[in-house]
Amino acid sequence: MDNTEKKHQRRIRYKGTHPKSFEAKYKELEPEKYKETIAKVIEKGMTPAGMHRPICVTEILDFLDIKPGQIGMDATLGYGGHSEELLKKLNGKGHLYAVDQDPIELPKTKERLEKLGYNNQILTINHLNFSEIDLIASVSGQFDFVIADLGVSSMQIDNPERGFSFKSGGPLDLRMNPKVGISASMRLKEMTKDEIEGMLIENADEPYAKEIATEIVSHLHKGKDIALTSDLYQVICDALKFIPYRDRDEEIKKSSQRTFQAIRIDINHEYEVLYEFLEKLPTVLKPNGKVAILTFHSGEDRLVKKSFQHYFREGIYSAVSDGPIRPSMDEQSSNSRARSAKLRWAIKS
Ligand SMILES: C[S@@+](CC[C@H](N)C(=O)[O-])C[C@H]1O[C@@H](n2cnc3c(N)ncnc32)[C@H](O)[C@@H]1O
Repeated sequence: MDNTEKKHQRRIRYKGTHPKSFEAKYKELEPEKYKETIAKVIEKGMTPAGMHRPICVTEILDFLDIKPGQIGMDATLGYGGHSEELLKKLNGKGHLYAVDQDPIELPKTKERLEKLGYNNQILTINHLNFSEIDLIASVSGQFDFVIADLGVSSMQIDNPERGFSFKSGGPLDLRMNPKVGISASMRLKEMTKDEIEGMLIENADEPYAKEIATEIVSHLHKGKDIALTSDLYQVICDALKFIPYRDRDEEIKKSSQRTFQAIRIDINHEYEVLYEFLEKLPTVLKPNGKVAILTFHSGEDRLVKKSFQHYFREGIYSAVSDGPIRPSMDEQSSNSRARSAKLRWAIKS
């Protein structure tokens, strides 16, 4: 190497008051200290960073009609927003079991709920995929109620290190449990063009699936990496260059959302584990036990609907919700993340 060549120097960053890391950026990450900031963010219909606002709480609680002394399961603990409401209804009697596959957020939620006074007398939290709900039931006995709030939490989406969003730069990972499986970046490398196209259509109804799949594969064949969320976003921009300028930005945004969703579903085997969970539900519910499930896209809603209807026809469920229940208009306007939610319920015979 030519010693006279000037070594590339990283631009010295502004050392002002602007926080640089995700942890330092949002005051909301310290909710006790910045109550006013949090209230303002919520007022604008947004979710404060590092938090998750539970959806359809009233609808879920009305349906479950929890009585103190009951045994319940929150299959998707997340920030613990739903769990907290379920625990209030138990009023110190009975037990709530909760699982989540995310090893990063789970200890924080456990600590938060402990601070609220929910210790292991009333709450047991396990790091587990809900596809293994039967393991918990083998210890707890059957449940009076089960809830699942599918998909990813706001904390996962907002943390750039997790790679869930094209809006923030970070490694293209997308695993809810980064301790198992391979990252999205690795997964794309092992897929063929047809497989990527199929995945985009099946998991997100992506209208430009062919163009995006072709661009991903040609990018990788040229020896370029798709290691970062911004790399994938750039590939999508390149694939959609043919769209007339005036519509392009909007189409790129929608396709990016769908592409990230499709890859996330694939990486986390979301349909497979949901299917297993739905299959096991009748065995873990007590007679008259109730289940409520919140979904956020048509693929998972279809699976829940089919399973509930199938077991209803078999007489295993005595009642199922007629159709999807949507969050109220108030909730949809005060929480943008509630807009795509659909709630379905079933009661065991
Ligand atoms: C929408 S959030 C739940 C938010 C929660 N209801 C609350 O009020 O804070 C979904 C959570 O489910 C978890 N999750 C998704 N699929 C899962 C699975 N198969 N097994 C266990 N946890 C899962 C995610 O890691 C995430 O924390």
